[in-house]
Amino acid sequence: MGVGFDWSATDPNRRAAGRVVEVSAPDVERFKEVSGHFVTGVVVVTASSTDGLAGFTCQTFGSLSLEPMLISFSASTASTSWPKVRRADSVGINILESRQERLARVFATSGRDKFADLAWSPAPRGAPLIDGALAHLEGSVVDVTAHGDHDLVVVAVDYVRRHDGSPLVYYRGGYGVLA
Ligand SMILES: Cc1cc2nc3c(=O)[nH]c(=O)nc-3n(C[C@H](O)[C@H](O)[C@H](O)COP(=O)(O)O)c2cc1C
Repeated sequence: MGVGFDWSATDPNRRAAGRVVEVSAPDVERFKEVSGHFVTGVVVVTASSTDGLAGFTCQTFGSLSLEPMLISFSASTASTSWPKVRRADSVGINILESRQERLARVFATSGRDKFADLAWSPAPRGAPLIDGALAHLEGSVVDVTAHGDHDLVVVAVDYVRRHDGSPLVYYRGGYGVLA
């Protein structure tokens, strides 16, 4: 498990807030490093289609609209799982729990059988919902827009459920839990 984050007032990083530590032209590595300062949760996007089960770890998940209920995420055009998810009737969003770092790593690794030994059950329309996740959603892909090397994906949500627990978080390239 990764480190816990401490946002207390005594945290030296917090005391130093506002001090400029680095300014540079944004090459891709800098862009990744700087945008990685935005702390997120971690989800696994899943689907069951004629191609079989598919899924990938994703941190670009976000709530997009309330009426209608829409969420979005971006999917890399290099992903081998995204084309399978796109072809499925429904998409599952598994918001990972703090104890699911190993799962996040498995679903971020291309080419392996990500569902081997995985406990899951189908959502009402068949998307795999992973046991132990903090929350689940299911919906249909209603829009895909290409932007550079990613597709911006919009999903209309028709099923939600949540569980007790705390989130797995991702910050500056590392996993963590809320302290
Ligand atoms: C914490 C984390 C967040 C990620 N977020 C995304 C994302 O938002 N979109 C995406 O396409 N890939 C994301 N990835 C990378 C994919 O998980 C990875 O490229 C993909 O699963 C590779 O396997 P595949 O070829 O089966 O798709 C993320 C990886 C990690 C570790």
